[in-house]
Amino acid sequence: MSSELICIADFAKEARQKLSPEGWGYYASAAIGETTAQENCEAYKKWRFRPGLLKNVSDVDMSTTVLGSNLPFPICIAPTAHHAIGCAEGEVATAKAAESLGAGMALSLFSNFTMEEVAQKSPNCIRWCHVQIVQNPDVTEHYMKRAEKAGFTGFIVTIDRAVLGKRCYKYKDGERFTFIPKHPCPNLRESIKHSMPNMNEIEAYQQVSNSTTEWDSIDWLKSRTKLPVAVKGVLTREMALKAIEHKVDGIIVSNHGGRQLDGTFATIDALPEVVKAVNGRCDVYLDGGIRKGTDIAKAIALGAKAVFVGRPILWGLACGGTEGVQKVLEILRDELMNTMQLLGVRSLQELQTTPNLVVHESYLFSKL
Ligand SMILES: Cc1cc2nc3c(=O)[nH]c(=O)nc-3n(C[C@H](O)[C@H](O)[C@H](O)COP(=O)(O)O)c2cc1C
Repeated sequence: MSSELICIADFAKEARQKLSPEGWGYYASAAIGETTAQENCEAYKKWRFRPGLLKNVSDVDMSTTVLGSNLPFPICIAPTAHHAIGCAEGEVATAKAAESLGAGMALSLFSNFTMEEVAQKSPNCIRWCHVQIVQNPDVTEHYMKRAEKAGFTGFIVTIDRAVLGKRCYKYKDGERFTFIPKHPCPNLRESIKHSMPNMNEIEAYQQVSNSTTEWDSIDWLKSRTKLPVAVKGVLTREMALKAIEHKVDGIIVSNHGGRQLDGTFATIDALPEVVKAVNGRCDVYLDGGIRKGTDIAKAIALGAKAVFVGRPILWGLACGGTEGVQKVLEILRDELMNTMQLLGVRSLQELQTTPNLVVHESYLFSKL
C-alpha cells in the first residue's frame, strides 16, 4: 500500500483508481440526485469550533461504550454490503482490522462472508449484527439466533429501507452493475436456505424489501433476543420518540449515506434535534459523511456517543485490504485526538459537556 495515503481523501482517490468502474460506482453511488450524500459531507463545514486554550491536554481519553461494549475510541464500522468488491478477503479483512485496533464493526446482512466465518477469523473483534426484518419472520429469527451463537453482542436494525432507494448510476461506464451473480450474499442465503429451502437466490434477495414493516416489528424483534437493539435511520424528533416508545437501546442518526431518501437532512444537522428529543433515554450514534477527525469531534460535541463510518472503510479495503482499513481507522483516530487537544478537552465527556464548543455558523452572526 502506498505510503502517500495520509488522509481519507487520498484513500478515495486511490480507491477510484484501484476499483473497477462498476465497483467504484456501487460503493460511491447514492439516491436520485445524490444531494443528501453530498450534503452529509458538506454540512460539517457549517459547524465551527470555539476552542478553549491553555489547558493540560497531555493525557486525552477517547474511550466510550457502544451497545454495552467498551471501545478505546468512538469510531465504528457501519454495516456496508459487498466488501469482496474491495478485496478478496472481504468482511474477514475488515473485521481483522477492527479487531487489531479495538474498533467495533457492524456486519451487513449482505456481506460476502458468513457471520460464522467472520467471527471465527477475528474472535476478539467487537461485533454487532445488522438486521433487516425480511418478509418471512422465520428467516430473520433464524439469522438472529445464528448471530447470538456466533458471539455477536448486539443488533443494528435498518429502518430506512422499506424499498430500495433509486440509485444514480452515473459512475458506471458500461453494463448495469449486477452484484448478485458475481458477489453472493451467503450470510443472508444461509438463513433463507434454512427457512425457505426451495427459493432461488434472486427470489431470496427480493425477500429483503419488506414494505409492510412498521414499528411493532421492533417489539417483535426485541422479544426474540436479550441482546441490545439499535435502530439505524432516525433523522427527526418524531422518529426518535417512536424509537424510545419501542424501547430501543440505541439510535443511529443516519440517512444510509444518502442511498435511500434523497433530499433529507445531512445527519450532522439532524443530530441536535434527535439528541434533544432522546434526552439521555438511550444512546445516540451518528453516521454519514465522516471523512475527518474534526467531523467526529463535531458529532460527539453535538451529542453522539460514537460514529459509524461507511465508504472510507471500503476505500481502505480497496487500497490495502486489512492494512488499508487499519490505516483509515488510525487516521480518523489520530485526527480526532489532535482535534481534541487543540480544542482543550481531555475526554469525550468534556467534549460533549463544555458549552458552545461547537456552534452552527449562524451563531457567529447572531452575536454581532
Ligand atoms: C456500498 C454501501 C453499502 C451499504 N450497505 C448497507 C447495508 O447493507 N445496510 C445498511 O443498513 N446500510 C448500508 N449502507 C449504509 C451505511 O451503513 C452507512 O449508513 C453509510 O455508508 C454512512 O455514510 P458514509 O458512507 O458517508 O460514511 C451502505 C453504504 C454503502 C456505501
